[in-house]
Amino acid sequence: MDNKLISNFKHTAVMLDEVLDVVDRIPSGTFLDATLGGASHTEQILERRTDIEVIAIDRDHFALEAARRRLDRFSERVRLFHDSFSSLEKIFNDENIPSISGFLFDLGVSSPQLDNAERGFSYRFEGPLDMRMDVRQERTASSLLNHLDKFELQRIIEKNSDEKFAARIAASIVKNRPIRNTLEFAELVKKAIPAAARRRGGHPAKRTFQAIRMEVNAERDELIQGVTSSINRLGEKGCGIVISYHSGEDRIVKELFRNAVTGGCTCPSKLPCVCGAVIKGQLPHSGLTASKDEIKENRRAKSARMRVLERL
Ligand SMILES: C[S@@+](CC[C@H](N)C(=O)[O-])C[C@H]1O[C@@H](n2cnc3c(N)ncnc32)[C@H](O)[C@@H]1O
Repeated sequence: MDNKLISNFKHTAVMLDEVLDVVDRIPSGTFLDATLGGASHTEQILERRTDIEVIAIDRDHFALEAARRRLDRFSERVRLFHDSFSSLEKIFNDENIPSISGFLFDLGVSSPQLDNAERGFSYRFEGPLDMRMDVRQERTASSLLNHLDKFELQRIIEKNSDEKFAARIAASIVKNRPIRNTLEFAELVKKAIPAAARRRGGHPAKRTFQAIRMEVNAERDELIQGVTSSINRLGEKGCGIVISYHSGEDRIVKELFRNAVTGGCTCPSKLPCVCGAVIKGQLPHSGLTASKDEIKENRRAKSARMRVLERL
């Protein structure tokens, strides 16, 4: 089974041309791919920049093994780790990497994670209520949905998605326990949302699934820790790239990048800085989206937003 998952691991890189445009202008050195997935981005980066070595992580064992096979021919320039964003600081120290010339976070889940019913990420297929990216972890979607109280569930759904009916959904979860699989959960969410509202914004369970997945994998805290560690290691003229897939994540990235650029300056934007902050970088644009052609080919690209930070 594991072997099948690994050999079938196929994910199309999102905004690849835009990522490579940035990678083309970074100095030689070490590049961090913090979300290796199937290595579609990293393979192209290694192909194109022979003066760059890559350090890459993924908390998903299946992704990492698929990537290891794909990158075999570059093995002398690649270091791979089965780990998560919150360990980056330790990895940089252990591997003796004082600075990096660039980084990439391509957030969320990969297509194979979503499409494999057994991983429990999808509201479309029947599977266990799992949603763990790293299967060594204890907390699963089932442990949250079948044990947390109504208010905690409501808070999680509100915090991690723009779901207006979080209170109704949380009440319905508690009333219908035990919830046994993904389809039961999706149906319950659908019924908790008023009929008129169900017709807007894609599948009615999409936002709640995202919220529970984010909680299972502590995605917000991971993102803040990982991007902060990477910004702190970004060397002169280096560039950091983050591709996010929903507004909650994008807001966090925007804030982290803005602080990195202004050095935490609190002065009004139209007045000279008097707080002593040191400008440390620039943002070449306020966020890019995928081209219409790419979205036609790959629906996943539709919600992608890419932000770039350049170290001065
Ligand atoms: C969208 S996919 C990346 C796809 C990849 N860029 C490619 O081209 O194939 C996101 C990947 O990030 C991993 N991931 C998400 N959060 C993570 C975290 N906190 N630490 C490590 N890996 C994480 C997921 O397991 C998934 O494989």
